[in-house]
Amino acid sequence: MASNAAKRSIIGAAMFCTLWLISASGPPMSSLGFTTFAPQKSSGSSSLGPQMNSTVAALIPYTAAVVYMLTTLPQSRPKETIFRSLSLLQTNVPWRHQWPVLLFHAGLYDSGDNQMTFLHTLRNYTVEYNLSSEATEALLERIEFVYLQHDVPEGIPHNTKEYKPVWREFWPSYHHMCAFFSHKIFHHPRVRDLTYYFRLGDDSYIRKPACFDPFEYMHINDKSFAFRVQDMDQGSVTAGMWSFVSDYAQRYPEVENRLRSNRWSWAPNRLLPGYGTDVGFPGYGGDFEIVRPARFQTPEVTAFLEELASEPERFYYSRWGDAPLRRATVYMFLNVTEEVHQMCEFEYASEGTTNYPLCECAPLPRLT
Ligand SMILES: *[C@@H]1O[C@H](CO)[C@@H](O)[C@H](O)[C@H]1NC(C)=O
Ligand SMILES: *[C@@H]1O[C@H](CO)[C@@H](O)[C@H](O)[C@H]1NC(C)=O
Ligand SMILES: *[C@@H]1O[C@H](CO)[C@@H](O)[C@H](O)[C@H]1NC(C)=O
Ligand SMILES: *[C@@H]1O[C@H](CO)[C@@H](O)[C@H](O)[C@H]1NC(C)=O
Repeated sequence: MASNAAKRSIIGAAMFCTLWLISASGPPMSSLGFTTFAPQKSSGSSSLGPQMNSTVAALIPYTAAVVYMLTTLPQSRPKETIFRSLSLLQTNVPWRHQWPVLLFHAGLYDSGDNQMTFLHTLRNYTVEYNLSSEATEALLERIEFVYLQHDVPEGIPHNTKEYKPVWREFWPSYHHMCAFFSHKIFHHPRVRDLTYYFRLGDDSYIRKPACFDPFEYMHINDKSFAFRVQDMDQGSVTAGMWSFVSDYAQRYPEVENRLRSNRWSWAPNRLLPGYGTDVGFPGYGGDFEIVRPARFQTPEVTAFLEELASEPERFYYSRWGDAPLRRATVYMFLNVTEEVHQMCEFEYASEGTTNYPLCECAPLPRLT
């Protein structure tokens, strides 16, 4: 968290500070930069699943935070797009509560000076995006820098001259990010006790005013997971993923049954050797998800994620991504009809993609 003194001085300060150019050359801190966009018919968008009595649900207290991964290496700097993302997030969402915005970093923002520069830059962007001064103050108050150390796991070579992981040019920063969002995040001390978190990427833009607070939506409708779009990770970054999920389901009949009732579709030839190698794997893409961590901390899900993590090459060599793994985990352990929502109500763009399918935004009842 920005030290209170640093924050007060930012919040009170005039907008003069040194210009600081942020390198845009770092790796993309998002998971689906090189995948094809293949929207599927939204299964969750009609939201016709049975809902909890909203009067009752809305009265249960909850906690929440927005989560961004700024950088995973100590010296690397975030992309400048983060400032636009944050400004739009503040101005286009009718927040009922100003929940914290957690910015994960790997050391750069341990320095008060760097935090201050970040906040000054953000303040400048809010002017450009026409935020009211109240909105700007509220946004700056929400920002919390969270240090996160990423280590290359034991047994993984550090020398990428001989070791040639997939996406070597972004190794290991991108691989760290995939591992973190796939499983580690559920046990991170700043996240694990939240009722919900909303993860965005550094070029995620909520482009137009939304008609509800997404956490309120989750809460009133008793949802555990929301995504914005389904797309496909290419086979080049999913080697072994189909057989991993298939083998797991074969060993746990309740998982197999749940996949079946969730209408999971398998890649062809499930019973042949080398199943699914080089076949793309569908995922929840676009760097947008709203998650109820408790649903990913059950003993059943934890056992699965531990098995996933037990071979770190999956992330640090094959470059498995969190987007397809999240979708697999959801289909294996959640009730998709009841617990999952496609948040097509939000006009959204990420990584230059703007044509996400949209649906009408119905305001939520205001109950409290
Ligand atoms: C929800 O529950 C409250 C309290 O039990 C009740 O007064 C209300 O009528 C219920 N609303 C619906 C839509 O069922
Ligand atoms: C913010 O804007 C002011 C006025 O345009 C400029 O002088 C200053 O250098 C900017 N600061 C940062 C950190 O971008
Ligand atoms: C901010 O307001 C100005 C003047 O009304 C307008 O020209 C500009 O497009 C607005 N900027 C954004 C990002 O909406
Ligand atoms: C989800 O819940 C519905 C309604 O309770 C039920 O019919 C369906 O079988 C459940 N699906 C799974 C995967 O458990």
